[in-house]
Order: sequence, then structure tokens, then C-alpha cells
Amino acid sequence: MKLSEWQRSHGRHHLPWQGGRDPYRIWVSEIMLQQTQVGTVIPYFERFMARFPDIASLAAASEEEVLTHWAGLGYYARGRNLHRAARQVMERHSGVFPRAFDDIMALPGIGRSTAAAISAFAFGARRAILDGNVKRVLTRVFGIDGWPGDRKVETRLWQLSESLLPETGIETHTQALMDLGATICTRSRPHCAQCPLAEDCAAFRQGRTASLPAPRPKKTLPERSATLMVIRHGRDVLLVKRPASGIWGGLWSLPEAEGDSMAACLRLTGQAPVRVEELQGFTHTFTHFRLDILPLVLALDARLTAAAEPGTIWMDCAEAIGAAIPKPVKSILEKLAA
Ligand code: ADE
Repeated sequence: MKLSEWQRSHGRHHLPWQGGRDPYRIWVSEIMLQQTQVGTVIPYFERFMARFPDIASLAAASEEEVLTHWAGLGYYARGRNLHRAARQVMERHSGVFPRAFDDIMALPGIGRSTAAAISAFAFGARRAILDGNVKRVLTRVFGIDGWPGDRKVETRLWQLSESLLPETGIETHTQALMDLGATICTRSRPHCAQCPLAEDCAAFRQGRTASLPAPRPKKTLPERSATLMVIRHGRDVLLVKRPASGIWGGLWSLPEAEGDSMAACLRLTGQAPVRVEELQGFTHTFTHFRLDILPLVLALDARLTAAAEPGTIWMDCAEAIGAAIPKPVKSILEKLAA
């Protein structure tokens, strides 16, 4: 009740995916908003909708084009799953986004919380959400110890989220939880003075907002290293298509040198480099391991023609920066372009 009142006066009401019930727009927005903030999502959402205005147009597009529209949002599996799901909706649901909760959850890339958000916003279904922001709100309000990713803690949080569901006005309630988590109950320095739930909040009363939610228990991640080759030919760089599965699946990336980079360059382009330069290395952290990346620039003689093996492409460096490439590769090329 307090939450919904707060939402009406202080929540967000004019986001581009609000104010309608088109499940497609709501679905795309919810996928983009997984792990990405509203301010970042808005321009991507607008461009995506302009190019893919409905499920049929998304399903008909190539994966390459969908990923190009995703470039920069990160977590490309989201874009790939969205595309696969659109094709699934065409095949299994005659192109109509399904209404049944289990059918929604069966689509690639849609978990329980996202399915609940779509059901609530598009169909007014009384379903509980539990994304990262909502986990934070609930652990604080109810003073729940333990890492929210832990199964037992998570089960408890689902129960609590369900216990808060109003009889009517599910959309306002759902948006209120999201907005409260994003704007008031922030990870660091929450704005408790403006919070409608402060009086009821265990963490606030006990001075524990800084320690709740409990962090993920530390585990040391395995480390790997990779030499990424920036093979340059004039203004062009050589990109290779990553295999569909594994890290950076399906994206264009820089070729990896396994062992001898000269030999790799020769094999890929038919030329040995005329100049080789090491750039500053850096570490990129994936969910399951850390990758120490050493970028190596290999310049080819621009006067000679350079071949491109199958699965590779020469692309203007500036164009490559805007293509479907992984974040660390983009930052290497940006440094080079600067
Ligand atoms: N985060 C996830 N879904 C959201 C939505 N619909 N509005 C604002 N933030 C969100």
C-alpha cells in the first residue's frame, strides 16, 4: 500500500516501454534491463524498436544484425536468446507472445522473475518478481542474513515477495519495487530519509543497510591468459568469428595467438608483420574465470594485399568498434584508435 502510493508520486512513469500493454515491447525492455540501468537502456531500446518493431521482424532478421543492435549493451547471450525466442514464438505460438506463465518461462533468456514482470505488466497477472534490486530491498526490509544467491535465502525471498503482492494494482506494485530498488534502496548510500518503508525496515532500524544484503562468499577464480592480436593493414583490422558456444560466442573478435604470433599472422593473412608492438595488458573477469589479456599489435605492409581466411574479415577499425564485438576487444581498439 505504502509502496504503491510512493510509486504514484515518486516512481517512474514515462519510460518508453511504459503506458502500453504490448508484450513484445515489455519483453524486450525487461531483457535489456537485466543487469543494465534504465539510462543506458533507453537509447538502445528506441533503436531496437525502430529496426525490429514486432516479433515477426525480429524473428526474420539475422543473428548478426540483432547482435549489432545489441553492441555495447554487453551480455550478448541476452540478444541471442531474444532472437531465438522470437523465432520460437513464430513457430510454437503462431507469432503471438504467449500469455501462459509456463509458456513465457519456457522461452530462452526468460527466468522466473522476468516472466513474472512481463506477466504483470503485459497481462496484469498477480506474479511476484525477484531481481537483484528487489533482493536488496527485501533483505534490508526484512533483515535477512546470508547471500541472496544462496538457495535457501533465495527461497525465503521469493516467499516474502509473494507475501507482498496486492490484490489489485499489480503493475504499480511491481514498478514500485523496481523503482525503489533503483532510486532509493541503492547498493551504497541508500536514501533512507526518502524511503516509504524506512519505519518498517529492519536494516534501517538496526543500522545495517551497509551490511545487507550480505556479499557473495569470496571464491578465487581460476586464471587464464590470452594474447589477442590486433593485425592491422592500413586502417583495417582483422577480426575472426568466435564459435557459437563458449566465451563471446558468435561475436567478431581479435584472433588469439596460441604460441607463435608471427606464424599465426602468416597463416591468417599470408604475410609476416613488418612491426610488432605490445600494448598494456589487463584482466577481464568472467563469471567463472579471470582472463589476463595481452594485446599485441602486428602491422602488415599496407602496400601488399592481405588475404582473409574463411571465418575472418577485414574491417575498418572505427567500424569494428561499432560492430558486435566483446567489451575488452572494443576497449583495445578504442585505445588504438585514440
Ligand atoms: N528494471 C527491470 N525492469 C524494469 C522496469 N520495467 N522499469 C524500470 N526498471 C526496471
